[in-house]
Amino acid sequence: MNIETMEKQELQSAYILAVISGKGGVGKSMTSVHIAEVLSGMGYKTGLIDADIGLSNCATLLNETVTASVADWIHGECTLEELPHACGSITLITGSDQPGKVQFQPELMMDALDQVTDYLAASHDFIIIDTPAGAGEMTLWALDRAHIGTVILVDEPTAISDVYRLCKYVYSIDPEYPFAAVVNFAENETSADDTAKRFNTILDYFLNKKAAYLGFIPASEQIKSAVKNQVTLYDSGNNDSVMNEFRFIAQNIAGLAADQTKQLSNTAY
Ligand SMILES: Nc1ncnc2c1ncn2[C@@H]1O[C@H](COP(=O)(O)OP(=O)(O)O)[C@@H](O)[C@H]1O
Ligand SMILES: [Mg+2]
Repeated sequence: MNIETMEKQELQSAYILAVISGKGGVGKSMTSVHIAEVLSGMGYKTGLIDADIGLSNCATLLNETVTASVADWIHGECTLEELPHACGSITLITGSDQPGKVQFQPELMMDALDQVTDYLAASHDFIIIDTPAGAGEMTLWALDRAHIGTVILVDEPTAISDVYRLCKYVYSIDPEYPFAAVVNFAENETSADDTAKRFNTILDYFLNKKAAYLGFIPASEQIKSAVKNQVTLYDSGNNDSVMNEFRFIAQNIAGLAADQTKQLSNTAY
């Protein structure tokens, strides 16, 4: 099914998704960028916040040069209105692409990112927040702002145990925190299902919790070259099975968002 022909569901308010992982290099930024583009292609106004402070790379993946970052704004070098950068139909806001610039004052950055998120939420349906690896301040900030924390899982014992400890920590703060999972670098659908199941078995056994499984992304030469050439599969017009997996994930996210905002509007009465 072509995503552009799929029915767009009305959202009552902006739905915020944090993309997180235990380990680095598991595909958070690549996934964030592709999902943002697919949601946007479905007709949703979509913002992308790069909260990998100091080492942002969503702009690079999109082959864009960002002239104003949140760190610049904090330093009084630009205005809030100058931060949104149009990348095709998505709106990118970069936390900081310079290591050291505000990186060591996380409270300043978190306060600024809160304002940036509110600013985007006023005019967008979805906000995807790409985060640094691990359980640092920016990841915890992103999880706090998000409606759902999406963990990028890869089939490695260290990656799964890192994510498990991260989730466990978050549950110790908020026992009801909603997590979802995407399996990346999957060999095939069966092995991805197996990875997601293994993760959920651990969550269930030790914490009595479950993460919603959103789908998988295969290990793919096309993704590798898309990253290398700074042209996403979406922008290159790729329409094969890899792109379909991104569509499947985006569709699941849209479903979660529609349910969530419906629930919010129900509880408002
Ligand atoms: N499904 C995939 N298939 C092939 N290469 C991938 C895949 N996902 C990510 N990569 C590669 O892995 C590297 C890390 O991806 P990235 O999104 O930067 O990870 P993170 O943001 O988690 O650090 C990139 O070079 C990218 O090309
Ligand atoms: Mg990254």
